[in-house]
Amino acid sequence: MSITPPSERIWWKEPIHKVELIWIIIAFVWGLIMFFMMIYWHSVGEQNLSNEAYRIDPAVFAEKAQAMTEQHKVREEGGFPVVHPPPGSDVYLIARLWQWWPILEFKKDESYRLHIASMDWQHGFSLQPVNINLQIHPGYEMVVTLKPNQTGEFSVVCNEFCGIGHHTMIGKIYVVD
Ligand code: CUA
Repeated sequence: MSITPPSERIWWKEPIHKVELIWIIIAFVWGLIMFFMMIYWHSVGEQNLSNEAYRIDPAVFAEKAQAMTEQHKVREEGGFPVVHPPPGSDVYLIARLWQWWPILEFKKDESYRLHIASMDWQHGFSLQPVNINLQIHPGYEMVVTLKPNQTGEFSVVCNEFCGIGHHTMIGKIYVVD
């Protein structure tokens, strides 16, 4: 509420100032450019993943992860199974309070179908240090076709606040030759 009313009763029906019009056009054109850059960056910049999302039943997903783990477990690390799935196969990663399960081991230059799903709340999959990020919503699986191009040890950090143990929710992915 203003202390004094505008002197003109129809104060809003003014011709647009040239400078304001120029800035509206600049902002609009820039918005259009950035919109098409999203598509460009997806294919050329390798910044956004071509991920897919499907509705799932968490219990069924957990069974698949369990079966894969039993079949392809190669060792154990700190109570976590390390799974080395065959190249080209479907790989399952469970997000739950507060862990990423199991530990995965991929071969460099081989491709995999990585399925990630939450058993409870929303989590954030953040692969470090390469900085690949995915939202993991309850009731859905995110599927990514990936082909690791460097060997090493990668951390999976949860970057969506998921309660008291959020900061301890760290998983691991190995890429070997
Ligand atoms: Cu899971 Cu934060």
